[in-house]
Amino acid sequence: MAIFMTLALVASTDSAGLSTAFYSSSCPKLFSTVKPIVQSAINKNPRMGACLLRLFFHDCFVNGCDASLLLDDAPNFIGEKNVPPNKNSACGFEVIDQIKSAVERVCPGRVSCADIVAIAARDTVGILGGPKWEVQLGRLDARATNPIIANISIPTSKASLNELILRFSGAALNQRDLVALSGAHTLGQAQCYNFRKRIYNEDNINNDFAEQGRAKCPKTPGSGDAILASIDAETPTVFDNSYYKNLVQKKGPLHSDQQLFSGGQTDSLVKTYSESQESFFMDFVIAMLKMGSINPLIGPPFGEVRVICRRINPLF
Ligand code: HEM
Ligand SMILES: *[C@@H]1O[C@H](CO)[C@@H](O)[C@H](O)[C@H]1NC(C)=O
Repeated sequence: MAIFMTLALVASTDSAGLSTAFYSSSCPKLFSTVKPIVQSAINKNPRMGACLLRLFFHDCFVNGCDASLLLDDAPNFIGEKNVPPNKNSACGFEVIDQIKSAVERVCPGRVSCADIVAIAARDTVGILGGPKWEVQLGRLDARATNPIIANISIPTSKASLNELILRFSGAALNQRDLVALSGAHTLGQAQCYNFRKRIYNEDNINNDFAEQGRAKCPKTPGSGDAILASIDAETPTVFDNSYYKNLVQKKGPLHSDQQLFSGGQTDSLVKTYSESQESFFMDFVIAMLKMGSINPLIGPPFGEVRVICRRINPLF
């Protein structure tokens, strides 16, 4: 009985703690303030959508979505943004700052940075042609970072299928969530050092595709490491299911991506999504909601609504 009650309590805190209506009275203009800023940031730089979607993943995977990723280095901690796999890679922080200032003007001190990241990611997907959904809100912002956990728990391009499954299960996400969320790689760019080994040393790769990659990314480690290539070569700024179509053709640029279609347990789901954008969209939304509710920070004393997303609030 006691065990049952404890479980019920945890579960209800988890899902009931976040709500789509969380700001409906405290900040009714929230959504109409955020979306135009996301839209204009994407208009200015088409890659920005990719940046914003990825921020949500990299925030949520490290102790839950608590905007710990947004904190700059401070005297008593190192920012998660300054360790691998974020350093020289994660982008979009200045757009989050811009959204936060606009939100502070309409409802000061109300809306957490963690929720702003969640809304920006949701808006991005809708704006770029993907599914639209109601986003769960009510998170608080952390007062500390976890650079070591960030470095350990966010998977890298070297990850095997087993490692990907393990990392996602560590965040209470199953194989379906893993495959669906990976579809975010329909957007954005990767740096040469992340796909060099794949285009020069792997054989489960389409020949023409590998050749196109080699034309961009020099073979020698250390040369041209930061040269970019679209992860989805066909439509890098459209949120569609072409990521899965690429994988089925062995055109995944990252080793970790191609692992999802390489003779293992996730092949059939990749195939399904490659044939049905609708089922991809449905599962993507479910998985985004799940990822957004990993270990939410919903009460003081550990959380706060930051005034500036890059800094914890001063105590006095
Ligand atoms: C499944 C495990 C994953 C691995 C191993 C992984 C790895 C990577 C790597 C290596 C890059 C390229 C970074 C660079 O070269 O600078 C990247 C980019 C990206 N990732 Fe992932 N990722 C994963 C899952 C996800 C998820 C779940 C999302 C979002 C829901 C996501 C969103 C993105 C986006 C949008 C980009 C492009 C960013 C840009 O253009 O700046 N990824 N990812
Ligand atoms: C991150 O992890 C890698 C490999 O696990 C390790 O070699 C590296 O030193 C770590 N870097 C930081 C800054 O913690």
